[in-house]
Amino acid sequence: MSENRQILIASIPSGPLSQSDFEVRTAPVPAYGDGEVLCRTLALTIGAGQRAGLQGSASYAGAPRAGVVMGGTGVAVVEESNAPEIRAGDLVVGPTGWQEFSVHPATALRRVEPGPDPALHLGVLGANGLTAYFGLLEVGKPRPGETVVVSAAAGSVGHIVGQIAKKQGCRVVGVAGSAEKCGLLVDELGFDAAVNYKDADFRAAFKAATPDRIDVYFDNTGGDILESALFRMNLRGRIVCCGVVSQYDTAHPAPGPRGVPGLLVNNRIRMEGFLVFDYLERYDEARRELLGWIERGELKPRTTEFQGLESASQAFVELLGGGTVGTTIVRL
Ligand SMILES: NC(=O)c1ccc[n+]([C@@H]2O[C@H](COP(=O)([O-])OP(=O)(O)OC[C@H]3O[C@@H](n4cnc5c(N)ncnc54)[C@H](OP(=O)(O)O)[C@@H]3O)[C@@H](O)[C@H]2O)c1
Repeated sequence: MSENRQILIASIPSGPLSQSDFEVRTAPVPAYGDGEVLCRTLALTIGAGQRAGLQGSASYAGAPRAGVVMGGTGVAVVEESNAPEIRAGDLVVGPTGWQEFSVHPATALRRVEPGPDPALHLGVLGANGLTAYFGLLEVGKPRPGETVVVSAAAGSVGHIVGQIAKKQGCRVVGVAGSAEKCGLLVDELGFDAAVNYKDADFRAAFKAATPDRIDVYFDNTGGDILESALFRMNLRGRIVCCGVVSQYDTAHPAPGPRGVPGLLVNNRIRMEGFLVFDYLERYDEARRELLGWIERGELKPRTTEFQGLESASQAFVELLGGGTVGTTIVRL
């Protein structure tokens, strides 16, 4: 335990993200002080929002900087502890970043139970599962019988949104970027329909999949899909603005869609953004409910796995290009 392999941001991407925007470095294992804990990362999660962080468009992430360890959430085992509330051997979740070893104040870490797979704490029980839960239930407020549409539907947030919406008794339509993903949503995850936004006849297929129009649109993408949804919204529909992945991987994000604000006015549509942190005080309650659904087989979380720290940059590029399903996990 003398060396710490890390992945640094080599350069802030000016166009689509490339693996060359990252570099591997070896540094000494960090020292820890009073109240601090030395962690060894077991697995990392990579989310689309991290690209917004590198773009400088995520308010909570601050200005992006090159030459520092790439940030991110990991699940880790505690190697040594100088904090009374955490012991060596504990399993914790925290802001490990893309590196093998990291030091944190105990207050920055959350102890978790060692279950069959520690990576569960990064996906459906991590920020993306909570985002799906609160965004859909608290912002979208779906009612039984309503039509819920979700974009990036086969992704980490999206595939949980759709399954929770089904549990609420809604008709659920996913929008995703391949026939395989659309098949998975309908055949394995219980969506009522799924539409491939890359198909030439997307608009017609989208209309056919939403015969009663849309009551709740959970928007992970912005861009053309948001515009298509806007024109299909019902009176008093709700648009949950979760993220804008169609505009992250570029230096020139497109302007907002047509229809705003005219369609919002005419159809009394509520369009509301949220950040998962808004619900921090209710995380435990949501995790209990999500875990219960998983244990009863009512919620099926999916992951795409990569092996080895060095694969993190490849995982990130593949995620943005649509090459992953569910939550992207890198195991060290
Ligand atoms: N508000 C919050 O607090 C909060 C918290 C976490 C995440 N988020 C947001 O949630 C969204 C989903 O994040 P995630 O981590 O779950 O990512 P993800 O959905 O697992 O991955 C992103 C997916 O977006 C799709 N995509 C990429 N480019 C696209 C484009 N131009 N048009 C349409 N789809 C495109 C790709 O799938 P396809 O194959 O379908 O193209 C890709 O796999 C992001 O916008 C993220 O910023 C928000």
